[in-house]
Amino acid sequence: MPTPLRIGLVGYGFMGRAHSNAYRKVNNFFDLEYRPVLQAVCARDKEKAQAFADTWGYASVETDWKKLVARPDIDAVDICTPNNLHKEIALAAAAAGKMILCEKPLSMNTAEGEEMCQAVENAGVPNIVWYNYRRVPAVSLAKQLIDEGRLGRIFHYRAVFLQDWTISADLPQGGQALWRLDAAAAGSGVTGDLLAHCIDTALWLNGPIKSVTAMTETFIKERKHNLTGKVEKVGIDDACAFLGRFANGSLATFESTRYARGHKALYTLEINGEKASLAWDLHDLHRLSFFDYGDDSIVRGWRSIHVSDGDQPYMKHWWVPGLAIGYEHSFVHQVADFLDGLAKKKPAGPTFRDALETQKVCDAVLDSARSGEWRQVG
Ligand SMILES: NC(=O)c1ccc[n+]([C@@H]2O[C@H](COP(=O)([O-])OP(=O)(O)OC[C@H]3O[C@@H](n4cnc5c(N)ncnc54)[C@H](O)[C@@H]3O)[C@@H](O)[C@H]2O)c1
Repeated sequence: MPTPLRIGLVGYGFMGRAHSNAYRKVNNFFDLEYRPVLQAVCARDKEKAQAFADTWGYASVETDWKKLVARPDIDAVDICTPNNLHKEIALAAAAAGKMILCEKPLSMNTAEGEEMCQAVENAGVPNIVWYNYRRVPAVSLAKQLIDEGRLGRIFHYRAVFLQDWTISADLPQGGQALWRLDAAAAGSGVTGDLLAHCIDTALWLNGPIKSVTAMTETFIKERKHNLTGKVEKVGIDDACAFLGRFANGSLATFESTRYARGHKALYTLEINGEKASLAWDLHDLHRLSFFDYGDDSIVRGWRSIHVSDGDQPYMKHWWVPGLAIGYEHSFVHQVADFLDGLAKKKPAGPTFRDALETQKVCDAVLDSARSGEWRQVG
């Protein structure tokens, strides 16, 4: 019988649901030494928290995360709150000796992130950050192909994350559901929210980014604030584009915006190497496009790999070859890897320390946008 790992979830929004779903499914599909137990969920509204607990099967409810973190019957704290609460909850959880699974971005900035790394490392508690796109099988396959040397020397890495949901000037900022528009809760706009995903994937696939030059724009300068009722300055970046240089000599181009009319969540990446190129698109997430210059010239061209076979990453745990899985499964994979890492005492990434590298790139990007100058990362 697997050892129970009692989870205390803080925040029951989008990610609270995605993680709860993953905890419930993981042992049905993966053979693991640990089994997550939905011990407690914490949210400020008791009735809503109880309704969430009933839906997802949490055994108990708390309305103050400090109480949840202090409970002796919680082994791991899962932080699914807006970004401005990550640090405080993580520091308290580490001090209480709990394992921590923290949503991305790790923190509001590098200084906060460094404090969080110190806290988990001093406490010696296992920790991970939910950069889940690494665990979409097609993206994991991209990593395998790169590590096998199939692309050869890498020249270009380009990533884009486009949305269109904040174009209306009538949209308020702050509070439930709209905290992403409030710099005090989010830290930054698309840089920490969307580009952080692109940067984490890039660092994982292609190594460190050394320097960046960026531009950002806030298209709607003032919005009503839901918490104060007043029209207030908007402090987030609505759009960001940056160029960068990777340590391996390749060039980076990244772009993100919430003003790309027609795009809901278009995360795409493309990598061009000496021997081959690859490309991936979140809207078609189970496919990996691959061009191999080594192919016989008369059949050479982009192939679209349907990542659904048992010898492709994670897929042997699911259905039969040819049947696709989706977004939710990347979270199941993250839980599986985290639990497997515990059993093998080999921590699954990205740890807080790994995720701090993404934070450093985000800070350099925002600093470059402010100054109009190139910035070294870190
Ligand atoms: N990995 C991903 O792909 C991904 C996707 C979306 C969001 N996120 C990250 O997950 C985190 C949460 O985002 P979300 O989309 O789930 O937001 P959300 O607004 O849907 O949910 C946030 C939750 O936090 C709760 N909360 C706020 N303050 C609280 C407090 N003091 N105590 C307890 N609960 C509190 C809210 O009630 C809400 O349930 C953010 O850090 C975000 O960046 C990651």
